[in-house]
Amino acid sequence: MLRSRVLGTGSYAPKKVVTNFDLEGIVDTTDAWIATRTGIRERRVSVTGGATQMAVKAGKAALKSSDVNPKDIDLIVVGTVTPEMTFPSTACFVQAELGLCPGAPAFDVSAACSGFLFALDAADRYIRTGGAKKALVIGVDQFSRIVDWSDRATCVLFGDGAGAVVLSGEKGNHGLLSSHTHSDGRGWEMLYAPSPVQPSRFEEKCAEKPYLKMNGNETFKIAVRTMEEAVKEALASSGLDSDDISLFIPHQANMRIIKAMKERMNLPDEKVVMNLEKYGNTSAGSIPLALDEAVKGGRVKKGDIILFVAFGGGLTWASAVLRW
Ligand code: UT7
Repeated sequence: MLRSRVLGTGSYAPKKVVTNFDLEGIVDTTDAWIATRTGIRERRVSVTGGATQMAVKAGKAALKSSDVNPKDIDLIVVGTVTPEMTFPSTACFVQAELGLCPGAPAFDVSAACSGFLFALDAADRYIRTGGAKKALVIGVDQFSRIVDWSDRATCVLFGDGAGAVVLSGEKGNHGLLSSHTHSDGRGWEMLYAPSPVQPSRFEEKCAEKPYLKMNGNETFKIAVRTMEEAVKEALASSGLDSDDISLFIPHQANMRIIKAMKERMNLPDEKVVMNLEKYGNTSAGSIPLALDEAVKGGRVKKGDIILFVAFGGGLTWASAVLRW
């Protein structure tokens, strides 16, 4: 059976660090509030480049670690909701800038914080059905561009970043064991960002400042409940239980959400990847950035079972189980 196996990972976070203390000078907040309510201590902000540049850097690093010739990449999928242009897609820019196979399909997937897992799922379907042999899958977002820097309820939560994997279709037991994606558009008002190009149907919303809006409290409750269900679905469909998980890599939105999940799954700290204290919530960048850090930090070895789960605007949620 053909599976999507990860050959290499890469990530990129902009150099500029914005600490909670820096934010104390911008909005009415404190380091203590942010750290205790979210676990975040600092985030990165892209000052000179946008999502394309971050995606290219993460993609280049993933290609390097996979030792795959860029010309052999015959599919590029990018999860992002902060593309620099409405079109072309970020994936097309990545294809051109990294010299990937001309003519290969390249497209973006819009699923907010679940964007990377949606992109991974799409690439896996191409690979398993013979539509591609080697794929570059990237999650990237630049929320510093869409948050309202005068709104303390949201601006303290997000940061910019990107992560990438190179997938290869291979026979055997290693690779993606399961992948699930879900959406429920009825909940869109929980978390959204109006388009800067105003569509008439949403004139009322777009007349507001075109920044990200979130009902944090409600989103928190739905996120915990939904991610727990997503974990159960992922484990059941892979024939695993939580003891089989070597590493759990959840979307990095809030330390309290991750801790709640860790307790429900009865996982020890060393099996849970949490890096949000350094990056905040990087949306689609969050999971592949955390994966790359775990790989580089020696936390992943051959045969390990990794469980990913994400939740975000849309509403969207997704999971994936991978045997390394
Ligand atoms: O990634 C996609 C999915 N997103 C998420 O999963 C995010 C989910 N939500 C959360 O992580 C949390 O709800 C937040 C971190 C956004 C907020 O934490 P909370 O414990 O739910 O706080 P809250 O919104 O209930 O606000 C509590 C208080 C309020 O003051 P009052 O009304 O109690 O006087 C807020 O005005 O904290 C106040 N507050 C702040 N105070 C200092 C809100 N933001 C801040 C701030 N600094 N930055």
